[in-house]
Amino acid sequence: MSEFVPLLIFGAGKMGGAMLQGALRASWPAAMIEVIDPHPSDALRAEAAKAGFVLNPAKPSTAKLVLLAIKPQMLDSAAATLGTCVTAETVLVSVLAGKSIADLKARLPALRKLVRAMPNTPAAIGRGITGAYATATLDESEKGSVKTLLATTGRVEWIEAESLIDAVTAVSGSGPAYVFHLVEALAKAGEDVGLPADLAMRLARATIEGAGELLFQDAATSPATLRQNVTSPGGTTAAALEVLMAPDGLSPLMSRAVKAAKARAKALSG
Ligand SMILES: NC(=O)c1ccc[n+]([C@@H]2O[C@H](COP(=O)([O-])OP(=O)(O)OC[C@H]3O[C@@H](n4cnc5c(N)ncnc54)[C@H](OP(=O)(O)O)[C@@H]3O)[C@@H](O)[C@H]2O)c1
Repeated sequence: MSEFVPLLIFGAGKMGGAMLQGALRASWPAAMIEVIDPHPSDALRAEAAKAGFVLNPAKPSTAKLVLLAIKPQMLDSAAATLGTCVTAETVLVSVLAGKSIADLKARLPALRKLVRAMPNTPAAIGRGITGAYATATLDESEKGSVKTLLATTGRVEWIEAESLIDAVTAVSGSGPAYVFHLVEALAKAGEDVGLPADLAMRLARATIEGAGELLFQDAATSPATLRQNVTSPGGTTAAALEVLMAPDGLSPLMSRAVKAAKARAKALSG
């Protein structure tokens, strides 16, 4: 299996659409891509006409690589059509939250090669991170093609056990919302110390955008070092960090939040 292989995308909504865009940006040959989506948007139709991939073929091909990106609750109704597109040699990559490899095999018994992936929303701008588990039946070349697909929306981390996917969901899958809430909390704290609400929001938002970009551009430096670099002993940042890093500060709070997300992920997939 070479890097670019015939690709069938099942469901081109937010996540499937982001991966389609990513694949086209990464020069995945459009002639190798088929997309199935029952109610395609005008933008998707226009993109198909412009880029040249096939949208809603009368008879979908049995592609080597299938990306499943429908809502989890649509799996049962999609399984009949999907079943005609897969063989024992198909590699199916599912981004369906809460649907296990066993759930997928139960609906699609022909499948042997499966990948369960958990992307996150920055995928839409090519800055996502995906945790992915592959069954041992994929060879290295097949894993390479899967990584090429997932890497079109950002970074990829292979995980060794499917059981870790709930923890990945709790950290990076749900994580963007924690950061958005951090902006809200920082803006609210700014209001509490006297700033007008709109100014506090602009300051908080730009601070987190900028700090995130610094982390990205200075990947070799640890977050702890970046933090220490902006903390003068006895200064204002140190005063705030004393509160945030207290035994009842941000770290135990974040740990409780992530444990709650993990427990919810497990309950939803159970
Ligand atoms: N968005 C995220 O950040 C994120 C992160 C991690 C994982 N995920 C997973 O990604 C999956 C998709 O989420 P999403 O946010 O992208 O949802 P979405 O925007 O609703 O996209 C799902 C797409 O699948 C289409 N669809 C429905 N039934 C279908 C069928 N039988 N065959 C082919 N396509 C069908 C839908 O069409 P209609 O709209 O016409 O029904 C829609 O375009 C979910 O399973 C979710 O768990 C999403």
